Amino acid sequence: MGKPSGPRTPAVADLKTGHDLTSVLPMTAEIRDGRLWIGGVDTVELAREAGTALYVMDEHTIRTRLAEYVKWTRYHWKDVDVVYAGKAFLSLAMIKIVAEEDCCLLCASGGELAYAVRAGFPMDRVQMHGNNKTPAELGECLDARIGRVVVDNFEEMERLSAMAAERGVTQKVLVRVTPGVEADTHDFIMTGAEDSKFGFGLNQGLAMEAVKRAIELPGIEFDGLHMHIGSQIFALHSFAKAIEVIVEFMCRIERETGVAVRMLDVGGGLGVAYGAPDEPSTVKDFGKVVVDGIKEECEKHGIAVPRMAVEPGRSIVANAGVTLYTVGSVKEIPGIRTYVAVDGGMSDNIRTSLYDAHYEALIANKADKPRDMVASVAGKHCESGDIVVNDAPLQSPEPGDVLCVCATGAYCQSMASNYNKQVRPGVVFVRDGEWRWSVRRETYDDLMHTDVG
Ligand SMILES: Cc1ncc(COP(=O)(O)O)c(C=O)c1O
Repeated sequence: MGKPSGPRTPAVADLKTGHDLTSVLPMTAEIRDGRLWIGGVDTVELAREAGTALYVMDEHTIRTRLAEYVKWTRYHWKDVDVVYAGKAFLSLAMIKIVAEEDCCLLCASGGELAYAVRAGFPMDRVQMHGNNKTPAELGECLDARIGRVVVDNFEEMERLSAMAAERGVTQKVLVRVTPGVEADTHDFIMTGAEDSKFGFGLNQGLAMEAVKRAIELPGIEFDGLHMHIGSQIFALHSFAKAIEVIVEFMCRIERETGVAVRMLDVGGGLGVAYGAPDEPSTVKDFGKVVVDGIKEECEKHGIAVPRMAVEPGRSIVANAGVTLYTVGSVKEIPGIRTYVAVDGGMSDNIRTSLYDAHYEALIANKADKPRDMVASVAGKHCESGDIVVNDAPLQSPEPGDVLCVCATGAYCQSMASNYNKQVRPGVVFVRDGEWRWSVRRETYDDLMHTDVG
């Protein structure tokens, strides 16, 4: 879910200023009076008022990205669902935006579904995923009457069928298929072995068996297929290859069962810019390759074009977000490296320790100055691997500075922890010169809320 981005920023003082980092910052980012502003809000002032560490989400960027997906997929075919993958970042305010932008919502746990219910999200626009949905979660899907469940294994299918039949309802399902095409950021790999905990492999006949089971089981209605070939994908031909494979499978399904595949969901995965040199594909090009690609393949095989779905997560929110920290200390180890310690770390951004992810950083109160030195941004946790940015070019940092890590809108807050009983940062949304809490900062009481002894 989170391979590192493409070329790394070289570990040199690159003399870039905030003006040179717009490709990784939210769309509304600007430098005013030497400071970084986002959504018309001065981030330095915001850090002082709301405290740090703090996630800042730019509402304009989120809405624009969702709207781009809707526009550039439906430009090529009328029936396309844009299903925002809530795992990237989820809050009640975010779900309301997803609903307002005419998108659907992907949930991957009962907890994410509970958020959708609480936010009043239209349940027929919810899709439930996961390779091991518990019976309780399946029951929650049925009780909420969600749009589709993406089934992942035979046991789950049988369980869902029995539970739906018992309730006297019919649940639409998509069968998750492992197409044997895995995206590698800049290319794809044909994985004959299909060694994945997700879905049913095509090559061993499991996917066809699963489709046939879904067609015949009571209580569930086979609606179509789902696949997801990876994340942080730069090479659009990876999608094209997977589409070729899966449309061929759709054709076989029709031939062998006489049942048409009404829906094809190609998952998420479009890459984003984490480093200033990264050049991900545009949503416009993605829409063309995926939607036109499906249409062309269907025409080639003489089958009806299905309803389609795409499931972007990272490419909606990654560049909409930044994390603000306060610099606590600057430790120079002569001849080795300089550590800039901040008031957060692996508890609010695990991606660096987990995937060796790389980020751009800048000092928000010196945003117009050149990044004239290199330092590693270290967290405050009891792990030497607790690094937020390795070898970051920075404007000479000093204690009290506001350090901004860019492109942290995806898979940071959603993967945050309370390691060292650190309270998780709050999330603020900025828009048109105003900021508001979406998720408030935790308190020590919150930390002990579930302790009973
Ligand atoms: C099934 C599925 N759909 C969509 C996504 C979202 O992917 P991304 O955030 O790369 O767009 C994921 C991410 O892991 C996923 O597993």
